Amino acid sequence: MIIKSHRDVTAAVLSEIDRAADPRFKDIMSAAVRHLHDFVRETKLTEAEFQKACAYIATLGKLTTESHNEVVLIAGSLGVSALVCLLNNGDHGRRETTANLLGPFWRANSPKTENGASIVRSPTPGDPIFVTASIRDLQGRPVAGAEVDVWHTSGEGYYENQDPTQADMNLRGKFTTDAEGRISFRSVKPIGYPIPLSGPVGELLRTQGRHNLRPAHIHFLIFKPGYKTQFSQVYSSDDPNLETDVQFGVTSALIGKYVRHDGDPAPAADVTGTWYSLDHDFVIEPGEAKLPRPPITGKATGSERPQSVVLQRTDPR
Ligand SMILES: [Fe+2]
Repeated sequence: MIIKSHRDVTAAVLSEIDRAADPRFKDIMSAAVRHLHDFVRETKLTEAEFQKACAYIATLGKLTTESHNEVVLIAGSLGVSALVCLLNNGDHGRRETTANLLGPFWRANSPKTENGASIVRSPTPGDPIFVTASIRDLQGRPVAGAEVDVWHTSGEGYYENQDPTQADMNLRGKFTTDAEGRISFRSVKPIGYPIPLSGPVGELLRTQGRHNLRPAHIHFLIFKPGYKTQFSQVYSSDDPNLETDVQFGVTSALIGKYVRHDGDPAPAADVTGTWYSLDHDFVIEPGEAKLPRPPITGKATGSERPQSVVLQRTDPR
């Protein structure tokens, strides 16, 4: 098509997309082009702003490596990851779900661990926590024999793969639900942690006066053939950043009751003083059991922990 005015451009692109045989490709790309062209019209995007946007997107790709994914980080920081999760779980967004974001720190092949055992595999700072969880189906029946992977940060806010002082696979384990659909384990209470600021995500957050913290949480990945594999995170009810999670992940179904015990008898004789307990229920749906591609494959090399930089949330006025 010979373009006579800006109005012709959208129609020309849409008509070329229409040549594709795959109907889903056509749906997705047509909608993307319509929204993108409308965005340019609505914002009256200048040439300088367009060049800046292109450079920004190129930088997202350049900074993405085997151990860091800036593209996923910005998708989370703009709420796109949360939206995709909530529209694909809970009967396609029609009811509450315990599904949540996978996040960038799941590793495959975590050690199989007996229920009730500890996942603290090297000396790790943090208050002891005793976790129980139950897995049920949509009818409320316990799901026995489900594999449940768990992973979380230490009491200093580092995953083991980021932290040379932690043993390989520390604070990670794979459990199997018993006849009542339950798992249990001992660990240390995680704390919240800052997401990296070295790229466009840092610039985005600074421009908005946002902090870069995730509230403390424990990750769960629940796998059983016949059920849609569920990724979840259970957030700590006492964390000050539940309302302002930088990845927009906190839903009411996933605020866990991390109960503090001061001096109560603990489930393990060696625990005295402060300890925590957490009991949480998950509901899984019928569907395809499929493990995701692991976002990372091992511990970072080098002897240094990453430098944690925390932004303060500022008052916009
Ligand atoms: Fe996490």
